[in-house]
Amino acid sequence: MSKEKFISISEAMKQGKGKVAVRGWVYRERGSNKMKFIVLRDASEIIQCVVERNKFAPKGVTSKEASKQWDEIDKIKIESSLEIEGEIKEDKRAPTGYEISVDKINIVQIAEDFPINKDLNEELLGDRRHLWLRSRKMTSILKIRSTVFGAIHEYFRKNKFYEYQSPIFQSVQCEGGSTLFSVPYFGQKGVFLAQTWQLYAEPAIFSLEKIYTLAPSFRAEKSKTSRHLTEYWHAEMEAAWANFEDILFYGEGLIKHIVKKVLEENKEELKILERDVKKLEPVIKKKFVSITYTEALKLLKEKANMNVEWGKDLRTIEEDKLSSMFDVPIMITNYPKIVKAFYMKEDSKDKKVVYGVDFIAPEGYGEIIGGSERESDIEKIKKNLIEINENPANYEFYLDTRKYGSIPHGGFGLGVERVIAWICGLDTIKDAIAFPRTMTRWKP
Ligand code: 4AD
Ligand code: MG
Repeated sequence: MSKEKFISISEAMKQGKGKVAVRGWVYRERGSNKMKFIVLRDASEIIQCVVERNKFAPKGVTSKEASKQWDEIDKIKIESSLEIEGEIKEDKRAPTGYEISVDKINIVQIAEDFPINKDLNEELLGDRRHLWLRSRKMTSILKIRSTVFGAIHEYFRKNKFYEYQSPIFQSVQCEGGSTLFSVPYFGQKGVFLAQTWQLYAEPAIFSLEKIYTLAPSFRAEKSKTSRHLTEYWHAEMEAAWANFEDILFYGEGLIKHIVKKVLEENKEELKILERDVKKLEPVIKKKFVSITYTEALKLLKEKANMNVEWGKDLRTIEEDKLSSMFDVPIMITNYPKIVKAFYMKEDSKDKKVVYGVDFIAPEGYGEIIGGSERESDIEKIKKNLIEINENPANYEFYLDTRKYGSIPHGGFGLGVERVIAWICGLDTIKDAIAFPRTMTRWKP
């Protein structure tokens, strides 16, 4: 390959001295008609490059070629693409501690005026998202996101789960009709985008027993919050023979593995994001807090003087208050049946309660996992469906799982962007994904 001579900027910095060839985009530039300081960026790093006029158009040399090249160099603007060869050396004053003294420069393209600057409001940055992806912030987040995706696959595969896919076009709802997207489907009614893989995953545990997926889920969220997307990535697992304790075990294990991987592999990125990593360390070292819904209400009352009536779902402010009491995720278990989904297993000792869990992230990042042991009693499931105005006949395929060799089982779903927003310490979930989708944003 002809391009082999180019190395990444971080490799060049590792090399530390001597000749290097790098290429990338102009991150910043300043200078005079004698000397230019170009900060070049590639996927790996940024580095200051010094271009001296007298190397390209030495005084007294009237070579047309030379001065033509300097004229071109003079036109270089932010985000122009360049290939550079030169001598690298350590320089404490340079932004990343190294500097390249440029001998050769190939301008691949002079960029037009880059329409991104720090005065843009959120709306305009959203319109120009495709360009904003190049920012150091987004580059760092996207690298961490890549680590998170890798860690999810790694964790489940290490624990002997098969990767399995459910359809995205679905004929049933699972997490409530109010957030269901209907799709025009050749004139048919009753076709929806997946809110979760779950109802199509449960049938597959009779084949593969332990399965997981990493796929997009869709929710027609009408609220504008810093935690909701209409399209988000969902890491879900379902396991045959799993009891409630197993669900908590895998949930805690998965989160610990993700955080551990990011702390190991993304030190640089966390630094660029100014993330206080000390706040993440307890998550891998300490056991997560496990409390029941009823205990959570008691804590809210005693420690925060907040009154929640038993049977009401926890709201964001209550979850945030609870999360401020601990430095690890909280697993809130044994929710009232009336606030949870139709498929959750009823507690045989207390019929008002189900074996459902929400994992609440530290630092007010909200619910990152929702899961449960599944109801095995087909009559109870049918009754629950009727209560939410669903016709059990539409769920026949699902109900068959309780007819042919029914077993105890359970699973959970983890909101990947919620986890990324928390790990990166972001103000909004929108920055945890390249092109966020919300009620008001579906372009570009
Ligand atoms: O709690 P949820 O609705 O649970 C389910 O979908 C189950 N069927 C999962 C299962 O057991 N297989 O969603 C799971 C997680 C939430 O805890 C949250 O982290 C995330 O998905 N989530 C969202 N993330 C971003 N934007 C949204 N609109 C989200 N809605 C849920
Ligand atoms: Mg939930």
